[in-house]
Amino acid sequence: MKPEELLELAAGAMERAYAPYSRFTVGAALLGASGRVYLGCNVENAAYGPSNCAERTAVFKAVSEGERRFAAIAVVGGPGGRPEGPCPPCGVCRQVLREFCTDDFPIYLRRADGSAAAYTLGQLLPESFSGANLEV
Ligand code: THU
Repeated sequence: MKPEELLELAAGAMERAYAPYSRFTVGAALLGASGRVYLGCNVENAAYGPSNCAERTAVFKAVSEGERRFAAIAVVGGPGGRPEGPCPPCGVCRQVLREFCTDDFPIYLRRADGSAAAYTLGQLLPESFSGANLEV
């Protein structure tokens, strides 16, 4: 699947964001190794802390459906449902992706002009902590 296609699915998922407190809506589309796409949006909470990001929603949906190997993720987000530039995944979501993805895992963001900006997990989370560090 092309990065632009996955970004379009992420933009659709963003429409379902529940973000009444920040008004910052985010959508994610996670492509599984099976070819199935898992969509996620941010889901906020009045107590703030229990809020969940779009990327983690997508990862948790996938893992709970039995898929643990992933090909790529696309993320689209912005204030007031109008993304103007790239919405990079937060640090917690990068760490959650680390659990299931290797350094070469592609992360697509949408630039203001609509084009895809491609990064790898290794670029966005260098020198990361993973299960390998727990193996003594
Ligand atoms: N958010 C995401 O869903 N993903 C990100 O990568 C960045 C932040 C959400 C969390 C919160 O609901 C809102 O955007 C503002 O931080």
